[in-house]
Amino acid sequence: MTLIRQEGPINQHTYLIDAVHRGIPRGHAVYLLKSRDGGTCLIDAGTKDSAKIIYEKLITLDAWPLKRIIITHSHWDHTQGIGFLREKAAETESPLEVFASEKAGPFLADQSFNIFFSTEEGPYDNIDQVLPLRDGQSIEVGRDLTIQIIGTPGHMADHISVWDENTGNIIVGDAFGMKWGDDLIVPNPNSPFWSEKDFRRSMDLLKSLEARTICLAHFGCLSGSDAQRFPDDSLSMYERWMEILSQNSGRLEDIPFLVDLLWEKIYHHIPKEFRAQIQPGLTDAMDLAARAYAKQHP
Ligand SMILES: [Fe+2]
Repeated sequence: MTLIRQEGPINQHTYLIDAVHRGIPRGHAVYLLKSRDGGTCLIDAGTKDSAKIIYEKLITLDAWPLKRIIITHSHWDHTQGIGFLREKAAETESPLEVFASEKAGPFLADQSFNIFFSTEEGPYDNIDQVLPLRDGQSIEVGRDLTIQIIGTPGHMADHISVWDENTGNIIVGDAFGMKWGDDLIVPNPNSPFWSEKDFRRSMDLLKSLEARTICLAHFGCLSGSDAQRFPDDSLSMYERWMEILSQNSGRLEDIPFLVDLLWEKIYHHIPKEFRAQIQPGLTDAMDLAARAYAKQHP
């Protein structure tokens, strides 16, 4: 199997936690990094609801009190769990440090831009006291685990990924798209801060790393041939979506029409029995992509 879609270990240092996105299992993954000498670092904090699930899981994984959280980018589903985890940490003697890109400060300080995602999770808590990370910076999680921060903007201006050179694992948040099944890549050019130029540059960087495993927020960890193919497959899928949007730029508000085109032109290989299951998510993804596209092509 080359796509891990279950909670569990990815390698000796990395554990996939199913943060259960809006009540849906395997909707959102966060990753726990743990060194042999007890160093811990959680990559992303989930939503307010999923933080409770993450907290319970960290206890069972003997990773609480947690030492650090790194936020991959300032979108609500990666940040809004911070408040709950900080409250829980305050009940302990152990400080919890929260890190994000040095570019994330203004977006974290004012999370109201997340209203673009049309969720019912607002109002969004602003996140303060976040320690800035530079592109290329190394962090020692423990004696046997040092990670490197890699700037991967595109999906969001402040997006970073976390690279573990020793295991060849990279945790990429939302930087390069989503994978909802073995043969189902969904791109996410879905915010007002989307930058195609930066996305392409970040994609080149990802390819150059030749990662052994690629851990996605939505959802799971790719390995083997899946990991090798993912940068090219993901870029090509993005381009196919953009082709649909550019060829139908007069109908960007007609989301059912655009989703029908996705089924007809791209996802025709998905068995009919799974389509109803995927339809709501695909509709949301297309709605966001079309609005972001319209904003950038006025
Ligand atoms: Fe995101």
